[in-house]
Amino acid sequence: MTSASRRTVLRWLTGIGVVTVAPVGGFAGWLWADAARSNVGDLSFTTPLRIPPLAPAVSKGRFAKQFTLTLQRGVSELVPGKRTPTWGVNGAYLGPTVRARRGEQVTMRVVNNLGQTTTIHWHGMHLPAAMDGGPHQPIAAGGTWSPQWTIDQPASTLWYHPHLHSVTAEHVYRGVAGLFLVDDGDTRLPHTYGVDDVPLIIQDKNFNDDGSLDSSGIKFGGINVTGLLGDTILVNGTYNPFFRVTTSLVRFRLLNGSNARVYDVGFVDGRGFHLVGTDSGPLPAPLPLRRLMVSPGERAEIVVAFKPGERALLRSFAPDLESNILYEQLAGGGDEMDLLRLVAAPRLAPSPPLPPALSSAPPIRPAANAAVTRIVMGDFTFNDKTMDMKRVDHVATAGAVDVWEVRNDQDIPHNFHMHGVTFQVLSLDGRQPPPHMRGFKDTVIVPPDRTVRLAVQYLRYSDPLRPYMFHCHILAHEDAGMMGQFVTVSPADRPRVPRVLGHAHG
Ligand code: C2O
Ligand code: CU
Ligand code: CU
Repeated sequence: MTSASRRTVLRWLTGIGVVTVAPVGGFAGWLWADAARSNVGDLSFTTPLRIPPLAPAVSKGRFAKQFTLTLQRGVSELVPGKRTPTWGVNGAYLGPTVRARRGEQVTMRVVNNLGQTTTIHWHGMHLPAAMDGGPHQPIAAGGTWSPQWTIDQPASTLWYHPHLHSVTAEHVYRGVAGLFLVDDGDTRLPHTYGVDDVPLIIQDKNFNDDGSLDSSGIKFGGINVTGLLGDTILVNGTYNPFFRVTTSLVRFRLLNGSNARVYDVGFVDGRGFHLVGTDSGPLPAPLPLRRLMVSPGERAEIVVAFKPGERALLRSFAPDLESNILYEQLAGGGDEMDLLRLVAAPRLAPSPPLPPALSSAPPIRPAANAAVTRIVMGDFTFNDKTMDMKRVDHVATAGAVDVWEVRNDQDIPHNFHMHGVTFQVLSLDGRQPPPHMRGFKDTVIVPPDRTVRLAVQYLRYSDPLRPYMFHCHILAHEDAGMMGQFVTVSPADRPRVPRVLGHAHG
C-alpha cells in the first residue's frame, strides 16, 4: 500500500468517525443501498429517445454563424408523473446540439438567465483561452457573453457545460450541458442527425419523492469518495428510453455527461461494434470492440450494425475501476445500468459500408528532449496542491508538443482532462496503451496506482494572462480543487506571464 493510499484510508476512517452517531447497521444499510443502485430489470424502455434539437444558426456571411444559447430555469417531466425543477439551455433541461464546420467563424451569444453567476466552457474546442469559458470567464446573472473563434480542428464530438469554480458539479447536474459537433466535410460515416447519427448523453440522477433532483452527495467527503452516483439513468434527458433503428448501421455519439459515474458500455447480446472516433477526432481505422469504458467528460463515436426486426439492449456493465474492494463499491464499480433499447424496423435502409480507413492525421510525437510535466494525483490534490485561480502551474510554448506524465497515487479512480490541447496516450504504466486509448483525446481515465504518459499538442494561441485548465473530470474532485492552470505563450509573450494572475475577464 502506498503512503498516499494509506492517507486515503485514514481519511476514510475519519469519515466513519464523523458518522459514528449513526448506528453501525446504518452504515451496513448504506453499503447495501449502494449495491442496489443497479437498474437492471427495472425498465420497460417505452419512451422514445429524445433527440436534442439542432441549435438554429444565424448566418453572418458565407463562413460565419451566430448561435444564441439562453441558460434558463424550468420544470421538466424527467420521470413519469413528476415535476422536476431543472436548468437548461434554450429549454428546461439540457441544451441544443450546436453544429459547425471546420473553417467557419462562430459567435456564441450566451445569455445567463439562471439568476446566478455561471460560465459556459467549450470542452475539447481549440480556441483562445479568453474564449474557453473556464472559471476566468464568469457570466453574471442577467449577463451575456459572446465569445468568437474560428473552428480549426478535425471532425469531433465536443460538448459545452458550466465551469464556475467549486459549483460545476451542481450546475451540470441541474441540467446545463449540450453537444457541439464539429464537421469537416467527410460524409463516409452515417451522418443524418437523429436518424443514423444519434447523440447519447448519458447521465445518472437521484430523485426526491417530490420529483426534485436529489443533489445530496454532490460534494465528496467522508465515505463518499467520488461525489454523486445516481440510481436513475437518463439518456438525452429521457428515462426508460428506446430508439427506433431504421438503417443497417447507426453511429452513436456517446457522451458521459455524468458527475462521477464510469460506464463500461456494451450490448447484452454480446454483439460487437466499431469505435470510429474518440474525444478529439476519428481513429485511423474503425476498431472492433465489445466493451468500452467511458469516464466523465469523455466521448466515443461507435457504429453498430442491426438486422431487420431485431432488438438490442445497450448496457453499462459493472466497470472495473481497479480500486480496492471498498472504494470499488463506493465509486460505482458494482453497478450495472441498462441504458437504451434499440428496436430495429422490419425493413432497414441499407447503409454504405464502413470505410476501412478514417483519419490520416499524423500521431502527436514529442521530440526526444521534450519537456515532461509530472502530475501526481494525491490526496484529492495535484502535486499536493489544490486549485488557485491566481497561480500559474505551468507555462507552455504555443504550438509545441510536450509530455505530461500523470500518476494516480490514490486508491480512488480519477481521470484527467486538459483544455486547450489535443493529446494522445503514449503509454500506460510504461507499456503501449490498449488500441481504444490510442486515438486523439482530451480526457483519459487514470486508474489507481497507474501512470499515463501523454503526448500533448498545445494550440498556437498565445495569451500570458489567461490560463487553460487541467483537472480531474469527476466533478466533485474538480470542485474540491483537483485542478490546475497553464498558460500557452509565444516566445515573445513569455516574459509577460505574471507571477500572480488577476481576474482577466473576457
Ligand atoms: Cu469538461 Cu474543464 O471541462
Ligand atoms: Cu474542458
Ligand atoms: Cu478525481
